[in-house]
Amino acid sequence: SAAEKGGYASFMLKEIAEQPKAVADTLLGRIDTAGRLTLDEVRIPAAVLREADKVVVIACGTAFHAGLIAKYAIEHWTRIPCEVELASEFRYRDPILDRRTLVIAISQSGETMDTLMALRHAREQGAKVLAICNTNGSTIPRESDAVLYTHAGPEVAVASTKAFLTQLVACYLLALYLGQVRGTKWGDEIHAVVRELARIGDEVDRVLETMEPVRALARSLAHKDTVLFLGRHVGYPVALEGALKLKELAYMHAEGFAAGELKHGPIALIEDDLPVVVVVPSPRGRSVLHDKIVSNIQEIRARGARTIVIAEEGDESVAPYADHLIRVPATPTLLQPLVATVPLQVFACELATARGNEVDQPRNLAKSVTVE
Ligand code: AGP
Repeated sequence: SAAEKGGYASFMLKEIAEQPKAVADTLLGRIDTAGRLTLDEVRIPAAVLREADKVVVIACGTAFHAGLIAKYAIEHWTRIPCEVELASEFRYRDPILDRRTLVIAISQSGETMDTLMALRHAREQGAKVLAICNTNGSTIPRESDAVLYTHAGPEVAVASTKAFLTQLVACYLLALYLGQVRGTKWGDEIHAVVRELARIGDEVDRVLETMEPVRALARSLAHKDTVLFLGRHVGYPVALEGALKLKELAYMHAEGFAAGELKHGPIALIEDDLPVVVVVPSPRGRSVLHDKIVSNIQEIRARGARTIVIAEEGDESVAPYADHLIRVPATPTLLQPLVATVPLQVFACELATARGNEVDQPRNLAKSVTVE
């Protein structure tokens, strides 16, 4: 009913708007005033976490994209090798797991059969399984050794939005916690990240306040057949997520690529007026990547692409090559997905609406996939 949607036209729009609170709720009580992580619910003994020699993330769909981003954070902050695998592929390739493997199963619903079967397989091999889940008491957390709940609140729209952002927050918290338990040098970078996480809800809010041009752009592209998405580093999974949203909601052909792969094939797809969304990393931090992606933008634009560039505030270098420029607040590199994903959600939702689609219940999809 209209009341359940809180005045929004769809649950999806309501859930997009709820993201600042969802993010803040997921952080609540998990970082103390000294900036240390207090994840008491991670009931896997510290000794086990210290001895883990591999992390394997298993998930499906949007949760898999959260896992891809988690890999960057886990490896960077803990130096433990981390693999990310689609849950539906995992057990069929006879993966190498033992008691020193920490498996992270990410699931909004906690009922996804592919993820459940993968986690059962991991536990049978002696691995410890930690669930990141949004649904209290659901099957995946019940069958795991521990659970870190995301506090997004109920997500009704089939396309995941606030659950995804809170999965990212949970992954960052867990990566920092693993670093803390294992005695990673708590350097300036990690302090800056912890401080930034405390502010991130407000920054998501600021992004939401500037979405009108993104909506107008989405409406203007409603007649298109294809949209491509490019990113590097953590921007690559953001590109995959932007493409998935557009497939799910707008029923358009959409693909995400690692920008560095362009020249190895996908650049052949570029043609006149093809919309290409590019997620640009911060010019601070990994500036080499930034410069490489700017030259990717120049390359595709020279071949006629209509460039839709998501870049941090103050990054002027991209402006000359952007047909449309979407600004997001500056964040530490690893946290950029928390702000860069939001315009892509709004873009997909508006484009789907302009095409006359029902955004909360896309055709052929179910909120929770309980068959393999
Ligand atoms: C997200 O927009 C989709 N509904 C889908 O990809 C989803 O993320 C996937 O099915 C996994 O669901 P889960 O998080 O409930 O396990």
